[in-house]
Amino acid sequence: MKNHTDVQIFQMEIIMSDTKIIALAGKGGVGKTSIAAAMVKVLAGRYPDRKILAIDADPAVGLSTALGIEVSMTIDDIRKKVVATVEDGDTKSAMELLGEAKYHIFDAMAEADGFSFIAVGRPESAGCYCKINSYLKEVIALVADNFDYIVIDGEAGIEQINRRVMERVTHLVLVTDASRKGTQVAQTIRKVADDLVMYERVGVILNRIPDGPVRACMDLGDLEVLACIGADAQLAACDIAGRSVLELPEDAEVVRGVAEALNRLEGETV
Ligand SMILES: Nc1ncnc2c1ncn2[C@@H]1O[C@H](COP(=O)(O)OP(=O)(O)O)[C@@H](O)[C@H]1O
Ligand SMILES: [Mg+2]
Repeated sequence: MKNHTDVQIFQMEIIMSDTKIIALAGKGGVGKTSIAAAMVKVLAGRYPDRKILAIDADPAVGLSTALGIEVSMTIDDIRKKVVATVEDGDTKSAMELLGEAKYHIFDAMAEADGFSFIAVGRPESAGCYCKINSYLKEVIALVADNFDYIVIDGEAGIEQINRRVMERVTHLVLVTDASRKGTQVAQTIRKVADDLVMYERVGVILNRIPDGPVRACMDLGDLEVLACIGADAQLAACDIAGRSVLELPEDAEVVRGVAEALNRLEGETV
């Protein structure tokens, strides 16, 4: 994108006052998407009057299915549109381009019962990933002011933290299962985030933890445990049937765990 510096300066001037930006991060397959969806469910239930945005930031896609949303346009589609305008030799300034992008972004948001949704999309070639990640970062900054809560279902691993896509996240929620790899990834992300993310709160949700003295054996460093969720048969059944996580009852393990994690996160900030 042309005049990228202008764009960055413009973003830095946006005051994102009290929007809570919650990002889920961790190893692949540990439950980030399920937990992000449950978080949207709990927040939408608790705060029917607040504006909530769910962002599927994982090019591997999944949050839309978990939330029962049909995606018609993604952030990547919008990026392509805007880039095409530039390549056509259109002499719009960065500011105008950004304004246009903002219009498209709100247009592309799916409106569901109690929340809005947008997906980063899946670029066709692997080389596009860094472009879409920097665009995603701009999108988060652009729309943040319009929402009270933004829940971001992150890509597996450290990349989006490293590339500062999550820079403005206020609540960084790491997710791990009982595996050593899971806890290591959580701790690595936290270490990198300490330098690159302006978070107010960080903590870890332990997911799919078997009964027994497993938790005591997990090396979590000084990470605060926000909730410990067991194997959830209702979530598994929901997943197999392709049903939305929103349909889970309040007493489902994952919904209860997420509600507890949100209580802890909000305890000191609301
Ligand atoms: N607590 C749990 N109990 C049972 N199944 C779970 C639990 N958490 C996640 N799963 C299942 O594990 C799989 C991976 O979860 P997902 O949320 O997609 O992880 P991630 O987004 O981290 O890759 C899904 O099939 C999901 O339904
Ligand atoms: Mg996922």
